[in-house]
Amino acid sequence: MSMDYTEKVMENFTNPKNVGELEDANAVGQVGSPACGDIMKMMMKIDDDGVIEDVKFKTYGCGAAIATSSVATEMIKGKTVDEAKKLTNQQVIDELGGLPSVKIHCSVLAEEAIKAALDDWEEKKAAK
Ligand code: FES
Repeated sequence: MSMDYTEKVMENFTNPKNVGELEDANAVGQVGSPACGDIMKMMMKIDDDGVIEDVKFKTYGCGAAIATSSVATEMIKGKTVDEAKKLTNQQVIDELGGLPSVKIHCSVLAEEAIKAALDDWEEKKAAK
């Protein structure tokens, strides 16, 4: 990756948190980026009180997408669904200390994947 990345981006890219499958997930969201074709999948375990107990992701995409997913999952773990819904890609970028402008869409993918998983949970809950 180029010199345009902050240390925090590099750290989260080389050692991402919360990567993998979440076997007992009850909320799953998958989104693709029209800009580059990369795909991100978010899996969460949300308890009856709406607290995100665990979250994991899989990203078939670039380093910035992996770094943003890693940080975003750390930011929403232990939070409520309502709190997690408010997470914006800008907050993720700030947490990473910035992203090159051509990589902003990667952080949008993280925000959208989280929202898709939260929507999935709410739909399942409403159907009960
Ligand atoms: S280049 Fe597509 S998600 Fe980063």
